Amino acid sequence: MKETTAIAHPNFALVKYWGKKNNNKNTPAMSSISVTVDSMHSTTKIFKNSKSNCHRLFINGVEEFDLSKILPPLLYLSKFSKSDDYLVIESQNNFPTSAGLASSASGISSFVTAYEAYYDLNLKVSDREQACLLGSGSAPRSLIGGFVLMDHNNNYRCTQILQKPDWPLDVLICIASKDQKKVSSREGMEISKKTSPIYHDWLEINHKHINLALNAIKDKDIVSLKNVAEENCKMMHEVMKTSIPSISYMTDVTHSCLAEIKNLRSSGHKLFYTIDAGPQVKIICDPKSTEIIKKTIIDRTEVVEVIQAGLGGPPRIIDEN
Ligand code: DP6
Repeated sequence: MKETTAIAHPNFALVKYWGKKNNNKNTPAMSSISVTVDSMHSTTKIFKNSKSNCHRLFINGVEEFDLSKILPPLLYLSKFSKSDDYLVIESQNNFPTSAGLASSASGISSFVTAYEAYYDLNLKVSDREQACLLGSGSAPRSLIGGFVLMDHNNNYRCTQILQKPDWPLDVLICIASKDQKKVSSREGMEISKKTSPIYHDWLEINHKHINLALNAIKDKDIVSLKNVAEENCKMMHEVMKTSIPSISYMTDVTHSCLAEIKNLRSSGHKLFYTIDAGPQVKIICDPKSTEIIKKTIIDRTEVVEVIQAGLGGPPRIIDEN
């Protein structure tokens, strides 16, 4: 039986998306800038379901009955394939799932990549992006490697700002906990949009942060990128905190990582952090300092694990028959 397998990497936002413009279309209310990382990945295999008349999704070997993220891209893509096949979709992550590590971005983009190859679609870039967007607002960014801009003023088009060889920074993903988050990004951002008194300010600041980050990346200026990325991250977490009910993803381990980052910076190392909807701290750093940063975090905090990555590339097909 024919099956196709694709691999895609997660991406971490340096200027973040938190809040939707339209829930049905799953469109973000703002632009975002991210880095795609290399050593973490989702591997997704698809083939026809010959045993029953339904789509079946398995994540890390366990059947997932909530198809709400995968069905919208699947329905969108079936307009191009003209297929009414029922599919089995098997997705594996080599990192903790639903723990604030962008598993939906890599999962959805690997699925879209596998589907396109399975049905030999040769999609336009904008249709590939649209299919990803319907699954997860951060997923189109995983279609591109390196530093990526997703522009909400230009129909959510994604463009590469720099690729890995242009500025080969390292990313250390400090896992504070492997537990699944209690409030999903989707629920959390909806609560924030409806209740945070600073949500409007958050929308307003986006344009400024995007421009500052774009310039910093083009200039390969890590200090300027640190300033804007950390300010943007702090503001998103403030939006979460001021929501009703208040949302907090950080733990004591998260805070101990932040304290060590400050110490390392005082010792002259070039690094900055970002934190998404989970307790994990992602450190972006000059490769010259990677080893000492990693050792310091492992020795001096209670992190469960530190994953080392460089900047990653776009999704690719790894098996087709
Ligand atoms: C904090 O893309 O997971 O990671 O569109 O509902 O699937 P959905 O949300 P998702 O939210 C990402 C939130 C974030 C910031 C970011 O990646 O831009």
